[in-house]
Amino acid sequence: MGRGSHEAEIMLIAEAPGAQEDQQGIPFVGRSGEILDRLLQDCGLSRDEIYITNILKCHPPGNRDPKEGEKEACFPYLKYETFLLKPKIIVCLGRVAAQRIISPDFKITRQHGTWTCRKDCALTATYHPSAILRDPSKYEGVKEDFLEIVKRCKE
Ligand code: URA
Repeated sequence: MGRGSHEAEIMLIAEAPGAQEDQQGIPFVGRSGEILDRLLQDCGLSRDEIYITNILKCHPPGNRDPKEGEKEACFPYLKYETFLLKPKIIVCLGRVAAQRIISPDFKITRQHGTWTCRKDCALTATYHPSAILRDPSKYEGVKEDFLEIVKRCKE
């Protein structure tokens, strides 16, 4: 379910594939993907130079939140992806990824755009592209988060 450059310095981790992503085996091919591509383009990035993956490797039926057991069952795959890629920056897209990767009590509304460091890797989170679909006024804030990501990547 992961896609992108194996030399990427930036790894995006989202929640779980949607139904379309599940069928095609490619992350973010649906409407959220269009938003993500626009964001990347606005920040001078392309999918070819980053790596995108999900906490869950399959689509949870009915679009429900992933269950604890499902997240844990998929976690070794994510760990292995991270081990192979050794990204400089991990960006969690949305609450589910941020709470699994950064901290269980992470509040995406208050803490998006904040940074922590773990094992030579900088971690941050921003809203999931689907949150922008629901509320387009979030776009600019997420773009600012991404511009900071690009800036830190170049440092
Ligand atoms: N939403 C996600 O969290 N991941 C995808 O790959 C697509 C939509």
